[in-house]
Amino acid sequence: MTTTSKARIGLIGLGTMGANLSLNIAEKGFPIAVFNRTTATTDNFIEAAGELKSQLTACKTLQELVDVIEPPRSIILMVPAGQTVDDQIAALRPLLDDDDMIIDAGNANFHDTDRRAAQAVSDGVPFLGIGVSGGEEGARHGPSIMGGGPKPAWNRVSDVLEAISAKYQGTPCATWMGEGGAGHFVKAVHNGIEYADMQMIAEVYGIMRDGMNMEAAAIGEVFSDWNTRTLQSYLVEISGKVAAATDPKTNSPMLDMILDRAGQKGTGRWTVIEAQHLAAPIPVIEAAVAARNMSSQLTNRIEGQEIFGPAPQKLADGAISIPELETALIGGKILCYAQGFELIVAASREFGWALPLPEIARVWREGCIIRSTMLNDMASALADNPDRNLMFAPFFSDHLKNSQAALRKVVTVATANGLPAPSLAAGLSYFDVMRTARSTANMIQAQRDFFGAHGFERIDGGSDHHGPWGSGAA
Ligand code: 6PG
Repeated sequence: MTTTSKARIGLIGLGTMGANLSLNIAEKGFPIAVFNRTTATTDNFIEAAGELKSQLTACKTLQELVDVIEPPRSIILMVPAGQTVDDQIAALRPLLDDDDMIIDAGNANFHDTDRRAAQAVSDGVPFLGIGVSGGEEGARHGPSIMGGGPKPAWNRVSDVLEAISAKYQGTPCATWMGEGGAGHFVKAVHNGIEYADMQMIAEVYGIMRDGMNMEAAAIGEVFSDWNTRTLQSYLVEISGKVAAATDPKTNSPMLDMILDRAGQKGTGRWTVIEAQHLAAPIPVIEAAVAARNMSSQLTNRIEGQEIFGPAPQKLADGAISIPELETALIGGKILCYAQGFELIVAASREFGWALPLPEIARVWREGCIIRSTMLNDMASALADNPDRNLMFAPFFSDHLKNSQAALRKVVTVATANGLPAPSLAAGLSYFDVMRTARSTANMIQAQRDFFGAHGFERIDGGSDHHGPWGSGAA
């Protein structure tokens, strides 16, 4: 140990996120004690901490960590999600007093957080599960924080979490979302949206690269230009930057040297699985997760191209314009977020949370990966009426009225030329279904009644009717 003064908070797990979060906490003036299983990692971390060293206490054992924190203690876990979290809690809990609090700040599955929270309640000890978004930079200089657990437990550390969080025009992007796994659930939806946002950007990139024959640098300029108005967002900004980068080894555009096989840790998949459990339609996000999965099937894709030949892909000159692509992406983005927020509403109802929709949009305005200007408009629309699908809020319905023609054109032209645009297409289908008062589900109901006597409602009133299938059916 290197200090005698008590630490306000502790942190276990000095991987990139944990190390950066610790420095952020130290920088905001909170003395922090840190522990990592491998002591060399702790030593290196302290060595590199520069002038923040005075705020940091390096501990070689869990007991040392516990001893140096001011009671009642709060200890953040920044260890890999899953079994490691359970193991860490099992090792730490016996060393703690009953009013000491463990805070899991990793990317936990919210069902795990619910289970750990229930265990903590039955043990009579405080526990928080908080979603932290923003990658390495965010952790160091201001992430977006989505808290879950007992409100009094949140209140004990909210000063620290608000201080280290990103600020949107001075407002901290750190909010308590609800009990149990609420914070990690909101983080999972964030990640589902993240997947879809990234996928739709990749789709318009593909249309520019393969359909319009544009070089990476020119595509980068397009993204940078889009980033100056409606689509302003971290993901569009970095897409512009990555498209502009050059590979030092070959001097080719860096993007062209990257294998087209996307990784994933699984949080987007959790969002989709949960949406299915809740019967909440999120087709844009589902398509994005499926697209990531298909991207990993590189060998199959190569075989597919050998058997079927490449799709035509090249578009006729002027078939789609850059402004049309921009407008289509705006439409797709609105539809994607509308679905994400609808999923949050469904979960809130199912799990007995009161997830604060406008607050969720607000904490996503800065710090997190999906931060964007549009989220501020979403926060306003949701504050006006949190019970209405975002696509029907006047601000966004106006946007959709203006963008639907471009979205339709981009999806149909891309599809006609074999340029895959699954998330944009899923957005368009969602839009068309959601603006069709008379759907085709009467056929589904008739079929269900025919083969299973499931009954149907009649348009002229009454439920549990059955069709004259025996007599009239061909
Ligand atoms: C964030 C991110 C982060 C996520 C990575 C990688 O909000 O900071 O969502 O939590 O883990 O972006 O995610 P995948 O490996 O699943 O793409």
